[in-house]
Amino acid sequence: MPVDDSLPGARASTGSSSSRRPVVLDVDTGVDDACAILLAAAHPALDLRAVTCVGGNAPVDDVVANTLTVLDAAGRAEVPVARGADRPLLEPAAHARHVHGEDGMGDLDWPRSSRVPDPRHAVELLRDVLLSAAAAGESVTLVPLAPLTNIALLLRTYPLVANGIREILFMGGAVAVGNATASAEFNIFHDPEAAAMTLDAAAELAIPVTMYGLDVFYAPTVSRAEAAELVAAGGRGSAELGGRLIAFQCQRFDRPAATIGDAGAVCAVIDRDALTCERRPVRVELAGSWSRGRTIVDRREWSGDRAHDPHGPAPGVIDVALDVDAARFSRLWLDTVAGRLGS
Ligand code: BDR
Ligand code: CA
Repeated sequence: MPVDDSLPGARASTGSSSSRRPVVLDVDTGVDDACAILLAAAHPALDLRAVTCVGGNAPVDDVVANTLTVLDAAGRAEVPVARGADRPLLEPAAHARHVHGEDGMGDLDWPRSSRVPDPRHAVELLRDVLLSAAAAGESVTLVPLAPLTNIALLLRTYPLVANGIREILFMGGAVAVGNATASAEFNIFHDPEAAAMTLDAAAELAIPVTMYGLDVFYAPTVSRAEAAELVAAGGRGSAELGGRLIAFQCQRFDRPAATIGDAGAVCAVIDRDALTCERRPVRVELAGSWSRGRTIVDRREWSGDRAHDPHGPAPGVIDVALDVDAARFSRLWLDTVAGRLGS
């Protein structure tokens, strides 16, 4: 299919496979994680090297099954999928079936994959992919879309992987809003220690980090009518699955449109100019009666010194997404999932 150069990210598709940006997703699939996988699997500017799974929206075994199913629908059965942590570092797992359905992926009655995951633990697969990239002189954009348990374990166990990481662009946190609680976003709230460890380790290892949080997460949407057009494509491929995932959310929340959610973070890898960020120190609240799991984004003109601010400067200074050209991301997702970008 010819590439329409006016579409965001489309021009990259005219390059060779070596000009594609290597990416790895870490997911808790999850309706919107599935939307993200469909985009990363099909967009010609990306080279999806692996998908690793962690407990979050659903128990990790459901996450693995859902992820394999999505990659099958996308025609990308060769992408390795590995099972990772089944629970947060300290707390018991708490799932989000009220949002994502009993199977974690919209209860679509979609044929399940018959494949089995890679035998390696997610942390070992991440290590292998990132160290091989480093050995080949490449660097991978790591896109966690879930609680950061696998990523914290990875960075603290195998810090040399930093040589193979171009950036960590994660969905999680927020400057101003919460969803799991009034104060905290789900991915961070689910495993605050892992989030804090990830930010600390990234600062120590000089890995650039971008936070794609709730301040932008809900803005890129797809309507019921657009979803119905995708579903009409049929054939049990990316378009039909993407349409069904959006339709599920519209129905569950009784809305005329639904967010593409985690897929927005993948859009940000492809079309960074559509995202407005501020570079800010960020900490994760680990205590607090009502604020555990909140990301504390320091937006002061000066950033605490030890003489006047007992907390001192936060070690992690990262890009925080504050605004998004939502229409651009929605169009990018729709066109890719509908197969209108070519490959
Ligand atoms: C995040 O939590 C999960 O429910 C979604 O998949 C997304 O990653 C939003 O807070
Ligand atoms: Ca997710």
